[in-house]
Amino acid sequence: MVWGVTTQPARLNDGGFMENIKKKIEELKREIIRHNKLYYVEAAPVISDGKYDELFKKLKKLEAKYPEYASGDSPTRSVGAPVANKFVKVEHSALMLSLDSVNDSAGAEHFDKTCSKEIHEEIDYIAEPKLDGISIELVYENGHFKGGSTRGDGRTGEDVTLNLKTVKGVPKRLSGKRIPRHLSVRGEVMMHIKDFQELNKKQIEDGAAPFRNPRNVAAGSMRQLDYRITAGRKLRIYCYRILKISESLPNTQYEAIKLLREMGFDTPPNIKECRDISAAIKYHHDMEKRRDELDYEIDGVVIKINSLSFQEKLGTRTSNPRWAVAYKFKPRKEITQLVNIVVQVGRTGVITPLALLQPVEVGGVTVSRATLHNMDRITKLGVKIGDYVKVHRAGDVIPYIGEVIKEKRTGKEKTFHFPRKCPSCGAELEWEDVFCRCPAGLSCPKQMKETILNYVSKGAAGIDGFSIKSVELLYSKNLLKKISDIYALKREDLLGLDTWQEKKTENLLRQIEKSKDITLDKFIFGLGIKNVGRHIAVVLADKFGTLEKIISSDEETLTDINEIGPEIAKSITGFLKNKENISEIERLKKYGVVIHERKTNRLGKLAGKKVVFTGTLKTMTRLLAKEKVEAEGGEVSSAVGAGTDIVVAGENAGSKLDKAKSKNIKVLSEKEFREMVID
Ligand code: IVH
Repeated sequence: MVWGVTTQPARLNDGGFMENIKKKIEELKREIIRHNKLYYVEAAPVISDGKYDELFKKLKKLEAKYPEYASGDSPTRSVGAPVANKFVKVEHSALMLSLDSVNDSAGAEHFDKTCSKEIHEEIDYIAEPKLDGISIELVYENGHFKGGSTRGDGRTGEDVTLNLKTVKGVPKRLSGKRIPRHLSVRGEVMMHIKDFQELNKKQIEDGAAPFRNPRNVAAGSMRQLDYRITAGRKLRIYCYRILKISESLPNTQYEAIKLLREMGFDTPPNIKECRDISAAIKYHHDMEKRRDELDYEIDGVVIKINSLSFQEKLGTRTSNPRWAVAYKFKPRKEITQLVNIVVQVGRTGVITPLALLQPVEVGGVTVSRATLHNMDRITKLGVKIGDYVKVHRAGDVIPYIGEVIKEKRTGKEKTFHFPRKCPSCGAELEWEDVFCRCPAGLSCPKQMKETILNYVSKGAAGIDGFSIKSVELLYSKNLLKKISDIYALKREDLLGLDTWQEKKTENLLRQIEKSKDITLDKFIFGLGIKNVGRHIAVVLADKFGTLEKIISSDEETLTDINEIGPEIAKSITGFLKNKENISEIERLKKYGVVIHERKTNRLGKLAGKKVVFTGTLKTMTRLLAKEKVEAEGGEVSSAVGAGTDIVVAGENAGSKLDKAKSKNIKVLSEKEFREMVID
């Protein structure tokens, strides 16, 4: 197409037709961007993949038909691998190969024989756990961390330096006596099971979908554009290979590991020197037995020839080295029968289907329940009650159904139909796409109990003494029907109830009293507003300072805040404009709950400073830059004025820079700004 020449017939006097098309395109763009954010940033999608694809296709079709409205900022230009496109591609220092794999000892022995054919000497091996994470390259110049990238296609990956800076085990500076001029190493970013479980607990508390397994979290976190999300994820890296070094390489893999440790890297735990292949096979068996005791996921062991000169001699095939092999463990999935599907009601009324299974041992743990996520998942799996299914256990937490064994069907299987009414309160259930919800809100007992549990949780009032059981009990005794009832509980109400004795009662009452002093962010989170997790609660508290200001804000003001989209804004105003909710807040205050301002970073490097950005930032988004300023206690404004303290000048900075210079305002380059707030 030639610019300026439209392929469409002239549409003058079209009765607003073109205006409508333009509007439709804008609407679709906004909608898709919102869903991208919910999916990638908040990990809490509200529509099915199918519905998302539909929206996406619709927009693409309209843009193709009316190219005059296809703008550069359209998600159709950046989505595909939606987040990845925004990372810079980098070439690796050396090829990042993958491993050939074997599944049994015969395979391992065959590997040994193939090596021996070329190396006519005794071969000793190093056996390492095959960590289930994602492969990363880290680059150091003169001992300083310069950056890192994902494996990508092995030749080029994506620059994820900012995210890597938040990962435990990435030394900012190398230590020890032997610091090479240049060094690049390979390692695995992963999440320990304990941290994964904690994260999923938080996800569920925030009303967001839990992650499937630690590997998914590691992969997803590395591809986050907002490094603060990655920072909240407790990731670690274990390094196991020197990809390139300016100094001479050690003689063996074992010495390389020792050198990596000396320089400050974490290396895979439980590495073992093996004098021959039998010792390596024994290591595999031992590790497989210990697999469930380990606090990290491994899916096998890697057997590597120890001598680096032997490694060099054997060389590589197209994509695998000849000197190493992955000896896999038996997969952690088993076949069992799905006996029934029931539904659970969550805090915000979301109804989640749950598969009840014929108990089966998967990797040493008996599994009798598995999540089915939503109706979309059930449809995609095509699962019926009575089906035989493959149950996967990942990260030891939420087992899920990977596939249905359709060949095992007898014809007696029954299609699952979602109930029409809420199992907790009987309200007619409502559907939005594939998501089903009980509309009764806090008059639904299950939602109320979950809301109370959310209020007492660590991220909110932090009242330790409550468990699900005690909330259930007090609810059934009419002592705890809403959050504020917590503060009306008396000694005599509790004493004598089930397991409530003197000490437990005293302890709970003390904790309740203590919880009356609460910071604004925790209080907001504790209210259990739909779509308001801990992070958004902090954003609101920081932005508004007082609850009254939040209550009097409108949707427009709220959506002006970067992290808050229309969906979240609507939930907030919907909740805070509801009279019943306001009365509940008033009751809490009457019981003596005092809401304090959240402490901001008064000691930050930019405390009290007004910062203006001008020009194009090359290494970070404006959003990220703004957040960095705020994290350091500063404030970003758009125009250079009397109150401006610092101007950060990116590429092609214009009049704002001139103005700053004429007013003698401090000017920082992007590099200087980075050094101040990030590096
Ligand atoms: S060595 C050229 N060692 O397993 C040899 N890989 O394809 C490079 N992995 O993508 C791999 N733990 O990310 C090696 N101790 C370990 C490992 C390991 C996990 C991953 C690696 C690679 C995959 C195998």
